[in-house]
This record gives sequence, C-alpha cells and structure tokens, in this order.
Amino acid sequence: MFTHLLVPVDGSGPAKRAALAAADLSQRFDATLTLIHVLTHSGSLAVPKELQAYSKLEHIRVTEQDLIERAGYEILRGAETLARENGAKNCEILLKTGDPVTHITNYIKKNGVDLVVMGRRGLGDLAGVFLGSVSHKVAQATDCGCLTVK
Ligand SMILES: Nc1ncnc2c1ncn2[C@@H]1O[C@H](COP(=O)(O)OP(=O)(O)OP(=O)(O)O)[C@@H](O)[C@H]1O
Ligand SMILES: [Mg+2]
Repeated sequence: MFTHLLVPVDGSGPAKRAALAAADLSQRFDATLTLIHVLTHSGSLAVPKELQAYSKLEHIRVTEQDLIERAGYEILRGAETLARENGAKNCEILLKTGDPVTHITNYIKKNGVDLVVMGRRGLGDLAGVFLGSVSHKVAQATDCGCLTVK
C-alpha cells in the first residue's frame, strides 16, 4: 500500500515516535523510509571563539557551520538507528538547510512519497497547540497521505 515513507525529524520526542511508527509501517509494507532534517540556519564559516586557540594549536578548523551540520547529522543518525532497530530495512537520511516546510513538501513531490509521518508537535514550547507550524503547513500543502504522531 505504501512504497516510500518520509519522516521529518527535529530531535523531539514526537518526531522519534513518528520514526518508530514509520519503521513499523516500512517493515509491513516493505517500503523505503527516508528521514529528513532541515537546518533552519547554516551558521557562519568562522571558527567559534571558544575553539580558536585549539584550532591554532592542532591546525584543525571547525567552523560554526560544521558544528551545526554535525548536530543535524546526530539527530538523523539517532532516528536512523531507532528506525533500523525497529524493523526499517531500506532506510536513508537527508540533511537540508533552509525552510523546513519547503524542503519537506518539495521532497514529497519529487520523490513519489506516499505517506509522510511527523510529530504533531516538535521542539516548540507553545503549550496547548494541537499541531506545530511545520506539521500544520506540511499537512495542508501536501497531496500524499499524512500521519501525525503524539
Ligand atoms: N527543522 C525540521 N526538520 C525536519 N522536520 C521538522 C523540523 N521541524 C519540525 N519538524 C517535524 O514537524 C513536527 C512538528 O514540529 P513543529 O515544528 O511543527 O512543532 P513545534 O516545534 O511544537 O512548534 P513551532 O515550531 O511551530 O513552534 C516534528 O515532530 C517533526 O516531525
Ligand atoms: Mg518546531
């Protein structure tokens, strides 16, 4: 029934539970599972102040952009491990930078995603809101099936 599932992850509890649910579905339907994380800012090419002395000593240049990318990949690899441990066989990760809704909806359109599985909420702290801005806008903008997980 489903061939390609997309799980947008932001490191939050609901997004992890979305990855778990999607892993189960991908196993049942033998579907590809793509995990996407969108960095909302890319960071500068400067070495952060705290690392400057160290980078002179060791000749290692770690920029703010590198650190932000690493954090993005940690979120993705955490979700990938969880998904694989819970039955996902064909699993891939994707890191993008920019507007989350634009990247998520473009990926859905261009790659034949037939189900997007997201957290209802994410890392935001507005109490009492049923859906966050990303899950709300993706659900409205996309033509494919959409499952939101608490
Ligand atoms: N930067 C992102 N990259 C990938 N997926 C994301 C990103 N941000 C949110 N999501 C997905 O959307 C779901 C809902 O998060 P959303 O950001 O909409 O809610 P929120 O953080 O509670 O509220 P808001 O961000 O509007 O203050 C997350 O569980 C995750 O599945
Ligand atoms: Mg959010």
